[in-house]
Amino acid sequence: MAASRAVVSRRAEELPPEPLIFGKSAAMQAVRLKAEKIASTSVPVLIQGDSGTGKGVLARYVHALSPVSNAAFVKVNCAAIPGPLLESELFGYERGAFTGANTTKPGRVELAEGGTLFLDGINEIDFSLQGKLLHLLQDGQYSRIGGQEDRHSSTRVICATNRSLDQEVDSGRFRQDLFFRVNALTLRLVPLRSRPEDILDIANYFLEAHQSRYRQPARPFSPSLARLLLRHSWPGNIRELENLIERFVILGSEEAITSELLDRDQTEPPLTISLNEPIHLKKVTRQAVLDMERRIILRVLEANHWNRKRAASALRISYRALLYKIRQAGLPPKRSRPMAQDAPVKSQVGGG
Ligand SMILES: Nc1ncnc2c1ncn2[C@@H]1O[C@H](COP(=O)(O)OP(=O)(O)O)[C@@H](O)[C@H]1O
Ligand SMILES: [Mg+2]
Repeated sequence: MAASRAVVSRRAEELPPEPLIFGKSAAMQAVRLKAEKIASTSVPVLIQGDSGTGKGVLARYVHALSPVSNAAFVKVNCAAIPGPLLESELFGYERGAFTGANTTKPGRVELAEGGTLFLDGINEIDFSLQGKLLHLLQDGQYSRIGGQEDRHSSTRVICATNRSLDQEVDSGRFRQDLFFRVNALTLRLVPLRSRPEDILDIANYFLEAHQSRYRQPARPFSPSLARLLLRHSWPGNIRELENLIERFVILGSEEAITSELLDRDQTEPPLTISLNEPIHLKKVTRQAVLDMERRIILRVLEANHWNRKRAASALRISYRALLYKIRQAGLPPKRSRPMAQDAPVKSQVGGG
C-alpha cells in the first residue's frame, strides 16, 4: 500500500499531516501521475470531482510536491462565503473602504503570496467577481478594495469545482475567458463507485488508522460487511466512507454499521449518476434493477424473520436462487451475526 499512499505535510501551525490515498485503479493512478507532473509548474490547475472525492486533499498534495511547498497554502471556500464578502476575503481592503473597514486588511491572495491559493467551489463565484479573478490569473494583478495601487501576485492558483465548468459556461453562469484560464490543466477525480477496486483498500486504510487512533485492537472486516461496502453506491464518496469506518471503530460493532448501510441503501434514490462522467445506460439500468431486487429481498426477508425458505416461496423463486441473490446483493447470509463468527476477510491492501 505504501506506494499508493503519500503523506502530505502541512505547515506546523496547522493540523497533523493528512494522508492521500490514490488506490490502484487506473483512473487514480493516472491522476497521481498527472498531479506529480503538474506540481513542478506554476500553471493554474482545475480539480473536478463530486463532493467528497478528495479535491481538497489533492490540492494539498500538489502544493506539497511543488517548489513552493514551504510557503503558505491558503484555502478559500467560495461556496460558503456570500458574494460581496468574498471579494474582500480574496483581495482585502483599505481602511475606510466601506463602513466598518476600520483597519486595513490583507486578503487571502496576499496571504498566499509565493505559495498556493486554493479556490474551492470556483463555480460559485459571482459573475462580477469572475472578472477580477481573471485579471489576477492573467496578469497577476489585483487591488485591495478601496485601494489605489495595483498589487502584484505570484501565487499558484488551484481551483476546484463539483460541477462541470463547461456546462456552467454554456449556461452563461461562468465566463468563458476565465474558464480557459483556470482550466489550463485539469485533474478529474472519479466517484468512488466508479472505481470499486479501490473501495476495500481505502476502507482498510481508514480501519487501521482509526483503530490505532482510538487504541482499538486491530480487527478486519467480516466478509459480509466487506461485500456491503463494495455494493454501496457511496454518494458521499471517500468522505462518507471515512466517516462510516470511524463510526464503526468507535461503536465497535459491525451490526450498527451493517444496518446503517442497508437502511441508507433503502432510502437513497435508486440512481446516483454523475454528470461529470459518461453515463453507460445499460450499466446504470442493470445497477438499478439489482438495487431494486436487493431492497425487495431485504423487505421480504425481514417480513419472514429471515426464514429464507419462506422468503423464497413468497418471492416465487427457488431457494437456491434466493441464496445466490442474497450473496450477489451483498446482504448478510443471516440476520446480523456477531463479527467473531465470520472468518476475517483477506486484506486487499496493496498495489498502487
Ligand atoms: N484520496 C483520499 N485519501 C484520503 N482521504 C481522503 C481522500 N479523499 C477524501 N478523503 C477524506 O475525505 C475528506 C473530504 O475530502 P475533500 O478533499 O474535502 O473532498 P472534496 O473537496 O472533494 O469534497 C477529507 O478530509 C479526507 O478525510
Ligand atoms: Mg472539500
